Amino acid sequence: MNILLTGGAGYIGSHAAVALIEAGHGVVCFDNFANSKPDVAVQVEQIAGAAPVMVEGDIRDRAALDRVFADHAIDAVIHFAGLKAVGESVALPLDYYESNVWGTACLLQAMKQAGVRKLVFSSSATVYGAPQYLPLDEAHPRSATNPYGRTKLIVEHMLEDLAASDPDWRIAILRYFNPVGAHASGLIGEDPNGLPNNLMPFVTRVASGRLPQLSVFGDDYETADGTGVRDYIHVVDLAQGHLAALDRIGADERALSVWNLGTGNGHSVLDLVRTFEAVNGVAVPYKIAPRRPGDVASCYAGPELARAELGWEAQRDLAEMCSSAWAFEKLVAIRNG
Ligand code: NAD
Ligand code: UD1
Repeated sequence: MNILLTGGAGYIGSHAAVALIEAGHGVVCFDNFANSKPDVAVQVEQIAGAAPVMVEGDIRDRAALDRVFADHAIDAVIHFAGLKAVGESVALPLDYYESNVWGTACLLQAMKQAGVRKLVFSSSATVYGAPQYLPLDEAHPRSATNPYGRTKLIVEHMLEDLAASDPDWRIAILRYFNPVGAHASGLIGEDPNGLPNNLMPFVTRVASGRLPQLSVFGDDYETADGTGVRDYIHVVDLAQGHLAALDRIGADERALSVWNLGTGNGHSVLDLVRTFEAVNGVAVPYKIAPRRPGDVASCYAGPELARAELGWEAQRDLAEMCSSAWAFEKLVAIRNG
């Protein structure tokens, strides 16, 4: 198949591009490079043996989207493009509604016009809001606690309405838990601009000395060691989940399906820090800091539905997430001189 990856130059998109090319698919990445660089195509080619086609463009630009569908025989779309920083979404909500909601509506209109009706959408465990029970299964009630989460929830509703309006659509909503780590080559990974918001990129920068110290946000949660528990999932496993979802919707009767992509295992902040130190032989100095507003004690997936319906299951453990993240950080440090 020929797959269009919106946001394909980004962290998860570049790993999905590798997995798709390795599986024999053609890949076209459509990205405005707001949070990525076009030369990731070189690294993807180094790993996968073929480069994705890179098209610079914005999902809010309907004419640019129409051109991509006219220029390439696209069979399916994986929609990664969007903004994803929770704190920034509180400060700049309109940017988030414009990119994530309006941008997705533009993409869906372009797909409809081009007659492409297979879509995999990057949603997030954030749509579950504060967990009412654990593990979180796909039937858990949804809510949003910040503008970013609301944009994901609105798009989920938009996709439900679209699927109800036309049974020819084949849509997969994938709710990611906490993607971390990097490709085993160390060539692609997560290198956010500015101060990282998320735990793993912060840890790698502390370990390499780019940042002095990690702040552990709270040690008085109701968890085994008092620090927050999350379902970290290796980004390469996550990428494989997209292939499984594409295969499944190709053969599915349903117009819309929803799957969690998580491991089902919860790890605390201190589990992650200690594992990172042990597998990589480096120190991660940290201090205990106040809780981060909006954080919950524990959040982890029920991965059974994905296992049963996609035949997909995460394979890589926390040690592999930590070692690959560190290998990538070391190459970034060399590249940055
Ligand atoms: P990322 O920022 O690395 O990738 C997103 C890509 O989209 C970037 O390359 C960026 O340049 C591009 N982009 C942004 N706005 C665009 C626009 N208007 N037009 C075209 N391209 C645009 O982020 P990621 O971590 O790879 O996340 C991919 C998707 O997965 C996002 O939708 C995100 O919300 C979702 N998600 C991510 C996580 C996570 O922890 N990384 C968790 C849950 C869901
Ligand atoms: C974040 C997003 C969420 C998204 C999820 C999946 C925020 C507030 N939420 O959630 O919308 O769906 O990623 O990618 O960004 N921590 C520290 N110190 C740090 C950073 C984090 O102790 O410097 C702790 C947090 O308190 C939390 C854990 O590490 O317990 C994981 O945090 P993070 O990586 O930001 O992910 P989430 O909060 O789960």
